[in-house]
Amino acid sequence: MGVYALTGSASGMGAASAAKLSAAGHQVIGVDIQQADIVADLSTSAGRSQAVADILVASEGRLDGVVAAAGVGPLPDLTKMPAIAEINYLGVVELLSGLRPALAKAEKAKVVVYSSNSTTTTPGVPRRAIRALLDGDVDKAVRAVKIFGKMAPSMYAASKVAVSHWVRRTAVTPEWAGAGIRLNALAPGAVMTPLLAKQLSTPDEAKNIESFPVPIGGYGDTDQLGEWTAFMLSDAADFLCGSVVFVDGGSDAWYRADEWPLPPRLWALPAYLKRSKAFHASR
Ligand code: NAI
Repeated sequence: MGVYALTGSASGMGAASAAKLSAAGHQVIGVDIQQADIVADLSTSAGRSQAVADILVASEGRLDGVVAAAGVGPLPDLTKMPAIAEINYLGVVELLSGLRPALAKAEKAKVVVYSSNSTTTTPGVPRRAIRALLDGDVDKAVRAVKIFGKMAPSMYAASKVAVSHWVRRTAVTPEWAGAGIRLNALAPGAVMTPLLAKQLSTPDEAKNIESFPVPIGGYGDTDQLGEWTAFMLSDAADFLCGSVVFVDGGSDAWYRADEWPLPPRLWALPAYLKRSKAFHASR
């Protein structure tokens, strides 16, 4: 049986994922700001370092997998923007970077990062904010979003796009794929958790959520997302690497049926050839 670290273990999809893994006989090291084996605040650099150190002690330096589910939703309060970026982006990236050596010690370690379908269904997220997050510059990302004032596109979506890009960039590197670590993201749509319930209790947000197209209807279920998480940590996912798996009732397909997958344009051929060469050079 495996040893898994799981952030966001106290609630919602993190709690459901922890329950699935525990029921299958795995050891789960829960991390959360409340009610967890390791209580740590992932919105601060000190909290993230403490979480990494405590996980390494609890796991004796070897992990079969990590689930990064801790996160906050798209809070309308503009002063919360830095916290959203810190928790949803740095809370994943710094934590996983610190745990990479422990993951490399397992033969086929697997990581599931919670992204969101807001990545592809929120128009107008400034690219500059996404780039700034990928550079680890939260202040710059906040400035790039705040410039739009009340019309500010969601920092939440920016954090989830950035973390998804980080997953895809990082997953395929010699340090991760080359070390046998399968790094992937799960992108849920609206799932009925305390996070969503809180949004639904605000009339304006409720109106937006309820009018959002979900072709299959209703909301996602935490237990089912827990199953998806366990599946992405199982042997069935041995060949899954750098994927963003959408489980969103069809919202992404509704908006973007023809936008993905798309073949690269012919003019991209030189860049493709260069990238192919780089792959072989890196092995
Ligand atoms: P939730 O609110 O039920 O659980 C999130 C957990 O993260 C909580 O236990 C909370 O205490 C923890 N957390 C928050 N801030 C923290 C901090 N600073 N340090 C440590 N832990 C902290 O949320 P839910 O809905 O289960 O969300 C799980 C993940 O899925 C999140 O990353 C969220 O952004 C994402 N997501 C949720 C969707 C939804 O509709 N519920 C849709 C798409 C993505």
